[in-house]
Amino acid sequence: MYYSISTLSAAVLCFSLSKFASAQTPRTCASPSISPDAFSATKFDYVIIGGGTAGLALASRLADDHSVQIGVIEAGVYHPIDPLIDIPGNVGVGEGHPDLDWAFKSVPQPGLNGNQMPVPRGKMLGGSSGLNFLAWNRASSAEYDVWNQFGKGVDWSFNGFLPYFKDTTTTYQNQTNPFPGIPANETKADFDPNFVGFNGPIQSSYNNIYPDPVFPYVQSLNNLGVPTNANPDNGSASGIINSRSSLDRTRGVRSYAVEYYCRSVSQKNFKVLTNAQVTKILFSASGQSHGSYTATGVQFVSNGKTFTVKASKEVHLSAGSIQTPQLLELSGIGNATLLKSLDITTLIDLPGVGENLQDHIFAGVEYEVKPGVLTFDALHNNATYAAEQSALYNATGTGLLSTFDSTLTWLPFHFYLNSSETTTLQGIFEKVPIQNGTSQSLQHDIQRQWLQEGVVPQNQIVLHSGGQLPPINPNSSYFTAFCGILHPWAHGFVHINTTDPLAHPVIDERYFDNDFDIQAVLSCIKLLLKLQDTAPVSDIITNRTSPAVDIQSDEDLINYIKSNAMSSSHPIGTAAMAPRELGGVVDADLKVYGTTNLRVVDASIIPIIVGANPQQTIYAIGEKVCTFAVFFPEPGGFFLAL
Ligand SMILES: *[C@@H]1O[C@H](CO)[C@@H](O)[C@H](O)[C@H]1NC(C)=O
Ligand SMILES: *[C@@H]1O[C@H](CO)[C@@H](O)[C@H](O)[C@H]1NC(C)=O
Ligand SMILES: *[C@@H]1O[C@H](CO)[C@@H](O)[C@H](O)[C@H]1NC(C)=O
Ligand SMILES: *[C@@H]1O[C@H](CO)[C@@H](O)[C@H](O)[C@H]1NC(C)=O
Ligand SMILES: *[C@@H]1O[C@H](CO)[C@@H](O)[C@H](O)[C@H]1NC(C)=O
Ligand SMILES: *[C@@H]1O[C@H](CO)[C@@H](O)[C@H](O)[C@H]1NC(C)=O
Ligand SMILES: *[C@@H]1O[C@H](CO)[C@@H](O)[C@H](O)[C@H]1NC(C)=O
Ligand SMILES: *[C@@H]1O[C@H](CO)[C@@H](O)[C@H](O)[C@H]1NC(C)=O
Ligand SMILES: *[C@@H]1O[C@H](CO)[C@@H](O)[C@H](O)[C@H]1NC(C)=O
Ligand SMILES: *[C@@H]1O[C@H](CO)[C@@H](O)[C@H](O)[C@H]1NC(C)=O
Ligand SMILES: *[C@@H]1O[C@H](CO)[C@@H](O)[C@H](O)[C@H]1NC(C)=O
Repeated sequence: MYYSISTLSAAVLCFSLSKFASAQTPRTCASPSISPDAFSATKFDYVIIGGGTAGLALASRLADDHSVQIGVIEAGVYHPIDPLIDIPGNVGVGEGHPDLDWAFKSVPQPGLNGNQMPVPRGKMLGGSSGLNFLAWNRASSAEYDVWNQFGKGVDWSFNGFLPYFKDTTTTYQNQTNPFPGIPANETKADFDPNFVGFNGPIQSSYNNIYPDPVFPYVQSLNNLGVPTNANPDNGSASGIINSRSSLDRTRGVRSYAVEYYCRSVSQKNFKVLTNAQVTKILFSASGQSHGSYTATGVQFVSNGKTFTVKASKEVHLSAGSIQTPQLLELSGIGNATLLKSLDITTLIDLPGVGENLQDHIFAGVEYEVKPGVLTFDALHNNATYAAEQSALYNATGTGLLSTFDSTLTWLPFHFYLNSSETTTLQGIFEKVPIQNGTSQSLQHDIQRQWLQEGVVPQNQIVLHSGGQLPPINPNSSYFTAFCGILHPWAHGFVHINTTDPLAHPVIDERYFDNDFDIQAVLSCIKLLLKLQDTAPVSDIITNRTSPAVDIQSDEDLINYIKSNAMSSSHPIGTAAMAPRELGGVVDADLKVYGTTNLRVVDASIIPIIVGANPQQTIYAIGEKVCTFAVFFPEPGGFFLAL
């Protein structure tokens, strides 16, 4: 859901769009007003750590039961209106902004020729759903179905997710899909009520304007053998899709987790404390005698002062894939050796905490286009056009500023490689190192089967209708196609290296630490290099600008990929659902092993990365947990099966 734009182009966008402050009306729902003292003194049933994508979905649905008191703690603040969040034309610009982004960074990555990767994470009410690139889609059914191999007792299959995908969404029915390659009788195929929702908090809509490269690009990929998919939400994601955006099309603004906050804020049993950072989860010692710990509340800091707050039923950890493992470790749950080295008393020895970090990694090919071809670059190289679009957006919430690219392509290898090439990649996959004693061998078996069957997509291509990679001539226009790996083998980690709860944890994704990941991206970059000679998009291209035309050999292309790779900022898996003996952190009910009432509810629980922009999946996790997060006092007690 998130593509890190290069610093260069983000700076260009920032410079050129800063004058387009939104003229939209602020959200009308009340601002959070409870003080830290009052929050601390409230008797909550559930305390939720993190008012982000999953956390607010979860909190709002739990609060539908008016008999329980819900408290949410969020480090960022509520932004009733903020052009960097709300205006689609500003997507990417909020990244790195200290008011909106935690701005984590990886350690230097050998697989990226030593580069450090920014790890943007939304620091605001709404979390990363306020910072992402709006892509609203889901993975193929097989990718969810395998979750049931990692945890038993809750149905995490595609069909088990479906009601919650729908509950989270309002799909605009008054649109049709205009993409090339879709027969006239299927422009409404992706409105099937069996698969998409019509009453949820998050608005989901197609763009109503497409920059000039989009349709020729789609047609050229069609000509290269990649079909358009008219109905990607039905469990078959492969092909080119016109992804919906999480976007309130009537106003032309981002739709994000704050919609859930607004849904519940007027209720007395729903309290949200912002500008407060949780530093520790607190446990009662008494539960220990049953071999399990009971979370009793949390400690947090606000304006430099430390507070505690109690939760009588459950604590839900929704701090995201970076800070969820950080908080577990700070609270004494993690690898005992690591905790001991920091003088933290180990409550629960769970060596899988912070491990199993997976992320999508991309590299791009950029083409300069002929004069007169309209791209997003026109917003900074044609002052007349930019002023027209600004006025149009201010008056109507439409036009290019209400738009972000939506052309995404899901590729199984056989869409563009012949059988000997796919066999070669399968052979390379057989040789990746597997860490014994973890769920990696199960993950390896699953991915082997996916490669053999050829149904689950392995790469994603993201079109951006504008210049993204240097060198960029400010007077020219471009389009850039990024290709990334959807099921990378690289497994990294997030761990604390200090007991200071306000310090950033150490993040090491280990991008390209194995040959499979790099060869998969290389194969896809070679497909993108064919666009220059494939009509009709070839007709609008003047030349290739990145990689430079003299970069041709596999060796040079690999070096280019490593030096220019970008994360799509989809970190998952750092408190994974898996059997405890395989390094799992939570069971199928998302309860942390060794606790009676601490659940992780965010992307950290995803056992094996899904081939999609994950926000819809993460909302659905929050929605689904509410159906079984019912506290029973017996240690290790049961949960309501679905
Ligand atoms: C289109 O559908 C959306 C969502 O159902 C609705 O909010 C909007 O008002 C509709 N727009 C028009 C022009 O009918
Ligand atoms: C659209 O028409 C084609 C052939 O004309 C047919 O095969 C297909 O099933 C139709 N699709 C729908 C959704 O009716
Ligand atoms: C999804 O829809 C497409 C096109 O309408 C169809 O070909 C495919 O079989 C469907 N897949 C599933 C799992 O229903
Ligand atoms: C636990 O951490 C120690 C120290 O960092 C490390 O050597 C060890 O491999 C870790 N154990 C597991 C099972 O990951
Ligand atoms: C700049 O935008 C204006 C207004 O849309 C348009 O008439 C003009 O042709 C554009 N100039 C160039 C060089 O594309
Ligand atoms: C659009 O609104 C913003 C914020 O109010 C303002 O800065 C900008 O100048 C407006 N654009 C035009 C063309 O009036
Ligand atoms: C597969 O493609 C490669 C590279 O284009 C080519 O060298 C090889 O001959 C092809 N193999 C088959 C069986 O078509
Ligand atoms: C894992 O175990 C297998 C045998 O079961 C062994 O061949 C392999 O080398 C081990 N992997 C590592 C990384 O130790
Ligand atoms: C871009 O165009 C402007 C106005 O025509 C010109 O002054 C400037 O030198 C050009 N910049 C580049 C890098 O070509
Ligand atoms: C922790 O790791 C970070 C790098 O992520 C480093 O800058 C910092 O110095 C380390 N702190 C300690 C106490 O080792
Ligand atoms: C691309 O082509 C244009 C015009 O054909 C030329 O001015 C420009 O220098 C070329 N750029 C590169 C990087 O070759």
